[in-house]
Amino acid sequence: MVTIVSSFVWILMFRTCYNLCFPAKNDVVTNISSSSQSTVPKNLSNLTQILDLSENNIIGIHMQDFAFFHQLKSLNLSFNKIRNLAAATFRSNQELECLDLSMNELVNIECHFLLSVTSLKYLDISYNNFLSLTLGKAFSFLKDLEYLRLGSRKTIKLQKNDLEPISGKHLQEVSVGLKTLSEYEPGTLQVLRTAKLHIVLPSINYANLLERVMYDAFNISDTLKLSGIDCCQNCSEKLSNIDCCQYCSLITSSRGCCRHCNRYINSFKMLDKFSKVTNLSLQYLTLDWNAFESISEIIWSSMVKNLNIFNVKICQVTPFILGHLETTLKTFAVRQIDVVPFYVNQSVIYHFFDVIKAENLMVCESGMIFMTCPNKGNTYKLIDLSDNSVTSDFLFQDCQTLNSLETLILQQNKLGQLFEVSNMTKYMKTLKHLDVSQNQLILDEIRVCPWTNSLTKLNLSSNRLTDSVFTCLPSNVEVLDVQKNDIFSVPKMLNNLNMLKELYLGTNKLANLPDCSKFINLEILFVEANAFHEPSSSFLQSCQRLTVLNAASNPFTCTCNLRDFSRMKENTHIEMIGWPKSYRCAYPDNLKGTLLEDIHLSEVTCSTTLLLVIVLGSMIALTIVIGLMCHFLDLPWYLRMIWQWTQMKRRTMKTDSHQLSENLVYHAFVSYSQHDSSWVKEQLLPNLEEKGSPLRICLHERNFIPGKGIIENIINCIDKSYKSIFVLSPNFIQSEWCHYELYFAQHQVLNEQSDNLILIVLEPIPQYLIPSKYYKLKSLMAKKTYLEWPSDKNKQRLFWANLQATIGINLTAPSEEFFCVNTDQ
Ligand SMILES: *[C@@H]1O[C@H](CO)[C@@H](O)[C@H](O)[C@H]1NC(C)=O
Repeated sequence: MVTIVSSFVWILMFRTCYNLCFPAKNDVVTNISSSSQSTVPKNLSNLTQILDLSENNIIGIHMQDFAFFHQLKSLNLSFNKIRNLAAATFRSNQELECLDLSMNELVNIECHFLLSVTSLKYLDISYNNFLSLTLGKAFSFLKDLEYLRLGSRKTIKLQKNDLEPISGKHLQEVSVGLKTLSEYEPGTLQVLRTAKLHIVLPSINYANLLERVMYDAFNISDTLKLSGIDCCQNCSEKLSNIDCCQYCSLITSSRGCCRHCNRYINSFKMLDKFSKVTNLSLQYLTLDWNAFESISEIIWSSMVKNLNIFNVKICQVTPFILGHLETTLKTFAVRQIDVVPFYVNQSVIYHFFDVIKAENLMVCESGMIFMTCPNKGNTYKLIDLSDNSVTSDFLFQDCQTLNSLETLILQQNKLGQLFEVSNMTKYMKTLKHLDVSQNQLILDEIRVCPWTNSLTKLNLSSNRLTDSVFTCLPSNVEVLDVQKNDIFSVPKMLNNLNMLKELYLGTNKLANLPDCSKFINLEILFVEANAFHEPSSSFLQSCQRLTVLNAASNPFTCTCNLRDFSRMKENTHIEMIGWPKSYRCAYPDNLKGTLLEDIHLSEVTCSTTLLLVIVLGSMIALTIVIGLMCHFLDLPWYLRMIWQWTQMKRRTMKTDSHQLSENLVYHAFVSYSQHDSSWVKEQLLPNLEEKGSPLRICLHERNFIPGKGIIENIINCIDKSYKSIFVLSPNFIQSEWCHYELYFAQHQVLNEQSDNLILIVLEPIPQYLIPSKYYKLKSLMAKKTYLEWPSDKNKQRLFWANLQATIGINLTAPSEEFFCVNTDQ
């Protein structure tokens, strides 16, 4: 593991310098690159920290152009047409750390403008029109300088003292473009103190230049990158527009076209056991196979440990058989080899890889379709064949010599059968990590797969595997990546994977969280971007060891079933990756897009039992309360009274006073038994005549008109009254009712349907007390349309209010005659 990481880090090493100039998280960035500006725009935010003005047509910079950017940290002016920069240009930019002026037309390398930005860490002035590389004194004041890029498009000479201003400065990386170099004084580059050195090699036009430059380059730092090895340059004057490599590949007569290869081979001979370089990187090479092997051979016999070759064009392939060499090489990495001739004897190329004796072999992005099983003495711990066209049929099948291989990376190839991949590992007794992601792997039939037992990390992501993959897994696997496949579920019937600690199942079609019963030691589970709506809650019981879960971006249905899941973050110690932002409801429609975190489904809405208990409980409680109220507070009585009162009110409202007979003088006529006269006088009259809006009551004994008979008087009274009130009690029934029966018989105004009758029951009257001949009374009583006189003082107020509401209407003023009689009392 450590070896892979370190080799990858080494590959990326030359890019790190750029990071310094990349915006950090909260930086204010203004990007006006590629927008045809001919001057620096005026209205830019003066808070800008990162300013990109690259790829415009800026010719001149004015003194004031950057005067307001006090916080400017990084300025990119590359790919413009700047010819000159005044000394005071960056006077206000004390924070400036990164300055890119590459690809401009600067002529003067004195660079006086550097005097005001002495805190620069990164400076790129490569590819300008400098006439020499004699650095100005200003460079010596750049006290924080770490990265420097130099170079010119014009023909230049490099002489002792040219680099004097930066001699002795400890830099991280220096890059010097020497393609146009015409003269070189040996030792000039050796004044540099830098961890990494990059040199764009001079062309082969001048004698001895290449050898001298390379000799110095090999003795400056332990990390060196050389660009621009081109054996085929100037291949034909007539065909200057044709790619020389392409042209030479068509020439059948071997050698002769890429005729400068020997110059390069001889220059590489400057690399010997005493050179400083241990990490060597070569990029952009155009050469024939013979030279490629020769140069490799020279490097293997030197002290170089890591050789990294990027972008190679092989113009001609001629058989050249390398012998086995003793070497200190650890890593041999090639990316992008392009073998240009169409017909090539492949065995020549495979033989080359066969003799390499390194721990790490990487051949990537090179269209390889095959790799032979290396010979017995190989020492490979890591083989990386990423991004080629390797198929599973023959690759390392029955290969018994990879005896120290720990890591095999076959990412992005054309592997097809998972069974064959497992079969390939059969003899790799030390293989721990296999990456076959981004292939076309399938598993046709379910059969036992002969994986090596040593395999602990298996990456099967981005293939076409289905649920059956779980039957074909190495038994000791600890980390399994099967994301981006076609898995619908994790079958329950599989062998125990007790060692499995990390399982990556993202971007599949899972309908539920997997059950951990077959991998009880699982600690990390990724199931993001699958298809589950309501993850089962039993999941947590089976995955007891889980510490990290990523279930983001699933189409969650936010109903009660999701409650346990959405509370997992609160209720467990499991770290939920992507929580809360990537956990949203997809259904129901009204909750679409809502964060799971914001959905609060209460205990009550989600538990049917609880809901039943609560509903039943409250019903029982209500019944008890109503019962108690009926018992202690006589609730039904109040309800009845209120009902009657509202009915009365409604009726009185409806009664249009115009319809009332104009003869009406009294609100009510009251009839009662002599036995009840005390109640009438002490209760009824005071309450109706004196309280509230006074009502006029007709008592036949009080409002008696002399000279008329009793019956005539009573009928007269009834006629002139809006309502007739009968105060009922057993006494009344027994003594008086018969009289009234008589009045009623004579006076048709009163009948059963009449609204005008109000019965007040003073004391309860048992049915049997009412003689059967009084059927009218019986039916009135049966209809319960009477008012009961309550003995409870509290209820009496309601009683009176009710009675008043019944009879209280607006009456026109009585005529003199009756008024007089009324006040007679
Ligand atoms: C598996 O490989 C893919 C690239 O193909 C990578 O992104 C992923 O991180 C790898 N998985 C693990 C667990 O390393």
